[in-house]
Amino acid sequence: MQSPRIEMITQKYIIGNWKSNKSILEVENWFKTISQLFTTVDLQNSNIEIVICPPFVFLPLASELIQKNKLPIKLGAQNVSPYANGAFTGEISAHILSEWVKYALIGHSERRKNFCEDDIVLTEKIKRVNEEKITPILCIPDEFTLIPLGLDIVAYEPIWAIGSGKTDSPENADKVAKKIKENKNITKVIYGGSVTPENVTQFLEKDNIDGVLPGGASLDPVKFWEIIINASRK
Ligand code: PGA
Repeated sequence: MQSPRIEMITQKYIIGNWKSNKSILEVENWFKTISQLFTTVDLQNSNIEIVICPPFVFLPLASELIQKNKLPIKLGAQNVSPYANGAFTGEISAHILSEWVKYALIGHSERRKNFCEDDIVLTEKIKRVNEEKITPILCIPDEFTLIPLGLDIVAYEPIWAIGSGKTDSPENADKVAKKIKENKNITKVIYGGSVTPENVTQFLEKDNIDGVLPGGASLDPVKFWEIIINASRK
């Protein structure tokens, strides 16, 4: 049986942030399930950029499973070192990451809060990933947060909406995204904070929202798949 074809015009980003979760077996099972789901619908012309950001140690396994199953999924890093290669024990440099990822999240609110990352360190991180041709995605909690130069994509994620089950209203998220684009010369703004298969289309139908950044919902391959499918119908 031929799978239905889904067409889309503008590119949307669906970026799954796994945070500090999963085991080897859970990663294998996630890919097993999503690979089966990908055989049910042809998303080739859907113009959605699908990205997952696993913990660093799972990047090789995720990369292998993406290739093996020919999945249209790109990899992103959840974080990056502000330093280049060298004597920085425990750090993962942008140069190391450049063999694995296309994108890097920078300044997620959990990093700003729990690891005291400030604008100086985040500006350094953006510089490092740009040097390695990795696309930085700066996460900001509101439109007043500093946006350094050298960025195209910003994720607007109100702190209170992260992991809380409460989202910003799509109308307000659209307004904030518009301001960021107008005032900060940013071309793409994505929304994050309790995104689910049920609410994703309300955000994507807004003019200024170019994608979503689900955390919790991306851990479940079925939910992540439903987000992709609902986005592709937008
Ligand atoms: P959440 O996380 O979807 O679980 O709210 C989003 C994020 O932290 O990027």
